[in-house]
Amino acid sequence: MSQQFATKILCIGAGYVGGPTMAVIAQKCPNVKVTVVDINKARIDAWNSEEMPIYEPGLYEVVKEARGRNLFFSTEISAGIAEADIIFVSVNTPTKQYGVGAGKASDLQYWEKTARQIVEASSQNKIIVEKSTLPVRTAEAMERVLNANEKGLHFEVLSNPEFLAEGTAISDLHNPDRVLIGSMETESGQAARQKLVDIFANWVPREKIITSNVWSAELSKLVANAFLAQRVSSINAISELCEKTYADVQEISRAIGADTRIGAKFLNSSVGFGGSCFKKDVLNLVYIAESNGLNEVAEYWEWVIKMNDHQTNRFVRNMIRASFNTVAGKRIALLGFAFKKDTGDTRETPAFYVAKQLHEEQAEVVISDPQAIGNAKIDLKDFDGIVYEIDPYAATKGASSVAILTEWDLYKTLDYEKIYKNMVKPAMIFDGRNILDHQKLYEIGFNVYRIGKTPLLHSETALI
Ligand code: NAD
Ligand code: UGA
Repeated sequence: MSQQFATKILCIGAGYVGGPTMAVIAQKCPNVKVTVVDINKARIDAWNSEEMPIYEPGLYEVVKEARGRNLFFSTEISAGIAEADIIFVSVNTPTKQYGVGAGKASDLQYWEKTARQIVEASSQNKIIVEKSTLPVRTAEAMERVLNANEKGLHFEVLSNPEFLAEGTAISDLHNPDRVLIGSMETESGQAARQKLVDIFANWVPREKIITSNVWSAELSKLVANAFLAQRVSSINAISELCEKTYADVQEISRAIGADTRIGAKFLNSSVGFGGSCFKKDVLNLVYIAESNGLNEVAEYWEWVIKMNDHQTNRFVRNMIRASFNTVAGKRIALLGFAFKKDTGDTRETPAFYVAKQLHEEQAEVVISDPQAIGNAKIDLKDFDGIVYEIDPYAATKGASSVAILTEWDLYKTLDYEKIYKNMVKPAMIFDGRNILDHQKLYEIGFNVYRIGKTPLLHSETALI
């Protein structure tokens, strides 16, 4: 049966990256067998069910099309390794929490374990693809671990970093801005690179498939995330200045974004960026710069993170100040807990830090989110008394403040007259994403606080 496939791909790690990327490869390359393995059985069971382990628009349709045809999810890691020609490694690479580099460097233990497993279960030469985001020159270490085998096997290591964003993963994979494939400049490196180019060329225009040396590919991934995060921190820094000068940060984004050299994307000021990667990857870049003695470079990039922390912290401080300097005993509804819309992912979400600080100030924190309540409960399990309400109307009933922390479309069309009626007065709304009609909210009776704009206040009830 398996003879019908021209190539056999294995992906180790069935997470936010491994699952969607492999589903799309299988969808677009019916003659390639794609198997995705993971040590987490519950995750694999979910991939094999009707209920996907992650919320991602359009994902289930792609999985359904290919699953059982040429897409398989399994916990049989060694068997998968044994039969594969190409192995993508898409395991997690979190920030190291211990020892040298703690708090900044990448924790590569999962990645190295995988490399050793590959050696053990292999009996033929293979191409190993770094899909996880890794520090520059990891491929060198990998080559050493893999090629130190005593079976006479050769493993060619490629770097193929992933640029998908959560919430738009499927369209990003179907129509990527580019696919990047790095290899060693040797003959076998170039041949392996060509094999991977041929896979992507099944649906990605050839001119969008960029090839490079393996170190450039590894470092490009960290740099891409650092530049994106830096744009958000830059506009957030300007938002604070706007609040002091009556300028409007959205008008500034529009004005500067019209300059094609700057570009319009990633200029939305917010309560802060979150997600599993921006912070981790910028810190990793900082660590690599420090390790090379480049202290100014490290410090420059570290400010992207400091500015982001500052933005979230000052959002909470503004909430407290506007609440007559105390939120103790007050019900505060947080609408949105995911780190962005259209995902249930809450890793490094700014909402966690907002909830934590308000809880420490003894507020009665209510969390609402259409997809992330499950993850929120896990993240906040150590905080007693937090209330979870999927229904935004129930969440806001009896609250004195509402904060929008995720830009879910549904929050734009809520009945805010009804919400206002059921709140304690003076009712305050803090739009941490600048997605609401602020003038309308003000006319309803809310005191409206927004990012990078003067608040709209009914002066008799407002403090700032
Ligand atoms: P994830 O935590 O969702 O998934 C990783 C999976 O790997 C987990 O299911 C885990 O059980 C599995 N795993 C760990 N060790 C294993 C082993 N030895 N054998 C088998 N399975 C193992 O992580 P993710 O969000 O998919 O990220 C994976 C990598 O991709 C990271 O390096 C990340 O930086 C990068 N990345 C993530 C995104 C994103 O949007 N999440 C985008 C681009 C790149
Ligand atoms: C990001 C990158 O966009 C992807 O290219 C990359 O592959 C991925 O990280 C990764 O390596 O994990 P993701 O974190 O899923 O993707 O989502 P983004 O759309 O980049 O948003 C990140 C955070 O920045 C979110 O909290 C978002 O709300 C915030 N953001 C984004 C803003 O506050 N303002 C903006 O203008 C844009």
